[in-house]
Amino acid sequence: MDEHYISEMRDRAITLAEDPLRCQSLPHMELAGWDVLELIMVSKSEDYPDLFELHRDGNNWHWINKPSGIDQKFTFLDPTTLPCGPLEYITRQAQGDFAVLDQREGNLWMDAGMITSQADWSLDFDIGMNFFEWHAPVPKAAEMGIFQRALKFLLNIQQGDPSRRLNWTMTVNPRLDTSPENYHKWGPEKRTVTPENLGQKQYLRVELQTFFRLPRSNGLLFPIRCYLIRLDDLVTVPKWGRRFHRVLRDLPDELAEYKGFAVNRPMIVEWLSKYDDGAPTSPGTAPDV
Ligand code: HEM
Repeated sequence: MDEHYISEMRDRAITLAEDPLRCQSLPHMELAGWDVLELIMVSKSEDYPDLFELHRDGNNWHWINKPSGIDQKFTFLDPTTLPCGPLEYITRQAQGDFAVLDQREGNLWMDAGMITSQADWSLDFDIGMNFFEWHAPVPKAAEMGIFQRALKFLLNIQQGDPSRRLNWTMTVNPRLDTSPENYHKWGPEKRTVTPENLGQKQYLRVELQTFFRLPRSNGLLFPIRCYLIRLDDLVTVPKWGRRFHRVLRDLPDELAEYKGFAVNRPMIVEWLSKYDDGAPTSPGTAPDV
């Protein structure tokens, strides 16, 4: 949770009002929804006790979300006692997207989620797909065997032992919702980038992705938290400016195309080259300053 909590939750509410299909849950996923609600309520109340409270007496629960002005008494596992389903209820109050995967037949299935800040993929398109199907558009990784190994790893995630990975792409303007459904709004903005305004308009988009085993449903929760930094800010850390220049310069064409910035890549690489003095960079992401 950070200073963007209220504005990101407002942004989610606006996106959902325009397109309710950003939140979906197939009928067999309701128990997983309660698992998610429990995980988020317990975590928030333990991590931020001055902002969130959870009081439990058997299945009689009392949830207080002070920043949002919410005070809700309900019966755990009884959906008639909440204003909407448990997954929608709690993910309207938690930053980041949430994919909820069912595990069966040695695979993971995208059978529920709250997805309003995605990097050009659609829950409504992917709902019901398995791990290999929803990853099918990704270049290179399948033939390198990466998805076979990743799935094996994910199927063995244990309760109480979550894991994480990072992903990145590029976004023009600080938009959380870069969905295929709204491509007509954000896609054309790529053509507005010039060498003069690039430092302000072009953003690095980093996703912190985590994996949690869910206790009752044996589902897997995949939260995706998106962070945006404009290039003017990124290059204030010399190591980041140097490294980002080299990453973008050397990235295979298919990946620049897939990540959606091929059209502006030469301009961005040229702009970043001013911040690369050729010095070596230390391992890891620490800024070294
Ligand atoms: C169950 C957890 C996961 C979910 C729900 C998930 C979901 C997705 C989705 C929806 C996409 C976009 C595909 C598209 O273009 O339509 C994607 C991309 C991708 N995923 Fe996953 N993923 C998961 C786990 C992983 C893991 C463990 C890896 C590790 C190798 C991985 C690697 C990737 C890569 C490399 C991309 C391409 C991203 C880019 O280049 O910007 N995913 N994932």
